[in-house]
Amino acid sequence: EPGPGLAGALALIADVPDFPEPGILFKDITPLLADHTALTAVIGALAAAGRDDSGRPVVDKVLGMESRGFILGAPVALALGVGFVPVRKAGKLPRETYAVSYALEYGEATLEVHRDALEPGDRVLLVDDVLATGGTAKATMELVEHCGASVHAVAMLMELGFLPGRDAIGDVPLTCLLTV
Ligand code: PRP
Ligand code: MG
Repeated sequence: EPGPGLAGALALIADVPDFPEPGILFKDITPLLADHTALTAVIGALAAAGRDDSGRPVVDKVLGMESRGFILGAPVALALGVGFVPVRKAGKLPRETYAVSYALEYGEATLEVHRDALEPGDRVLLVDDVLATGGTAKATMELVEHCGASVHAVAMLMELGFLPGRDAIGDVPLTCLLTV
């Protein structure tokens, strides 16, 4: 059972050794997602990154990165009273897109967004579960730039503190609920 509040929610993240490969300690958020109280606390804390000091929403859209960013991003958008924009892996979006490729440990990956998903001048909040190398977040920031919009803030459930993901974000305000 989780304790109260955000700390109790984050305590539900489970360590899974040797997944997906030997030597990797996987952080499994599914027990947190399955607990309504915990999920509510986490969504509220992520949504705070899209509010000003008086609690007023200041973003026009929330962007979530496929796949786990969809799970967290859409409820954050609802909490803020704005729309949700999916940033998808290559070849999934049906209309005209902007695409940005970035390096992985082996090979590369491409993320896409619909060209008309954002209006020029829109302020957006990026939401994902994990900031690791920062490649996913950085590519998404470039997609936002292609749309003529701007990234107000990046909100992550957790940050892998032993990787330089934070550097990839640059000067954009970064909220991480947990550093591991
Ligand atoms: C994971 C995670 C983040 C990303 C972080 O996604 O959900 O999106 O890696 O890594 P980075 O900071 O090094 O880019 P992944 O693409 O593995 O899979 P998913 O479809 O389960 O979200
Ligand atoms: Mg992901």
